[in-house]
Amino acid sequence: MPVISEAKAAQSFVVPYSGVSNRLDDTDIAAVTAALAQDTLAIGPCNAEFERRFGAVVGAKHVQATSSCTTALFLAAQALELAEGDEVITTPQTFWVTTWPLQARGCVIRFADIDPNSLTIDPATIEPLITERTKSIWVVHHGGQAADMDPIMEIARRHGLTVVEDCAHVPGGTYRDRRVGAIGDIGCFSFHSLKNMTTGEGGAFVTNNDQYADKARHLGTLHVWGELHERPDPRIGPYRQPEYYRDPHVRRSYTMDYVAGRYLVGNNYRMSELSAALGIAQLDKLDRLNDRRRAIAAELDAGLRDVPGIELQSERSYARHVYHLYTLFYCPDVVGVPKDDFIRRLQEHHGVEIILRYFPIHLLPEFRALGYKYGSCPVAERTYFERQVQLPIYPHLTDDQIQHMIRAVREAVATLGAA
Ligand SMILES: Cc1ncc(COP(=O)(O)O)c(C=O)c1O
Repeated sequence: MPVISEAKAAQSFVVPYSGVSNRLDDTDIAAVTAALAQDTLAIGPCNAEFERRFGAVVGAKHVQATSSCTTALFLAAQALELAEGDEVITTPQTFWVTTWPLQARGCVIRFADIDPNSLTIDPATIEPLITERTKSIWVVHHGGQAADMDPIMEIARRHGLTVVEDCAHVPGGTYRDRRVGAIGDIGCFSFHSLKNMTTGEGGAFVTNNDQYADKARHLGTLHVWGELHERPDPRIGPYRQPEYYRDPHVRRSYTMDYVAGRYLVGNNYRMSELSAALGIAQLDKLDRLNDRRRAIAAELDAGLRDVPGIELQSERSYARHVYHLYTLFYCPDVVGVPKDDFIRRLQEHHGVEIILRYFPIHLLPEFRALGYKYGSCPVAERTYFERQVQLPIYPHLTDDQIQHMIRAVREAVATLGAA
């Protein structure tokens, strides 16, 4: 029996927004059960195996498993050594945590605008924001579809900028036949319960860059990264670690007296062995789970294509969309009433739980305080406030639920349009 909150159960939606991206099966349970019998539940064989296998899936030379995408993004900001005053260009159409590691380091966020159909960053709006302080472009592959990476990488190369891909929505998705994640300098994935594959909570930092990988390996696991030299600490005198402390793990973890010059101090962003074991089992079925999402999206598209007042999201020629979200666009001018009425009708009359991903983050208080306002990113604002709607999508939707959503959208538009 899936565990859901009492509040949610009380609403009894016909099509709820599921709390799990995919229902776990016997292979998932067997994998976690086997890991429970290991003599370590942290830093063990499952992490190593998961990192190796995930690297093969996304085509990345290096993977550092993390406790979440959030912590992978923190590692990215630290690995790139982004510092106070550095400018980073990103999209307003994302979960606010994309910019949080940058804000925490005192970076200045510059918001580009988005493409109104893919909801990913519009490359044409990036270049005008570049100044001599710009260091990096942080891209989000929104809803399971890759951003248009070629023009973004071209701009980055021309201006000497790094590129980070927030891949929280897109494990297994492709851009021009390449898996996303290692097209830019660093990719950060989420395996939170809601994501296309899950480890409960979890994430991954991926890169083809040896130095960023070395930093992530140290800084994500409570180590120090930097120039390591033996150096007597004047505060404690000529004390030397005894010989039996000379294993590199202990040296790097617990002492600073071997570190000189430039160094960075790590944090504990590790993934547990139980999560990694689940991740390995999930990787075996990632393509199947994504194919099922694609089939559901195709069925919804077919049932909604001819509805006046509804526009569909198109799959770009360069992307294999893995439908973490199913987005459609409501046209208030055609139907004659605002989007909120449409959403209320779907939820309250038809029992379809609507989600909205995401409130444009440049309008959050901390960015308004920096001068961002309504009008700063007009495409993102108009799309979010007037048009964008997300229907529930996950592999365990039943055919009845899919058909129910199609009928609900059709009836809602017809009823509201006739009123
Ligand atoms: C675009 C985006 N980035 C980052 C995250 C953070 O992921 P996590 O929950 O694994 O920290 C999310 C989570 O929903 C997200 O949607």
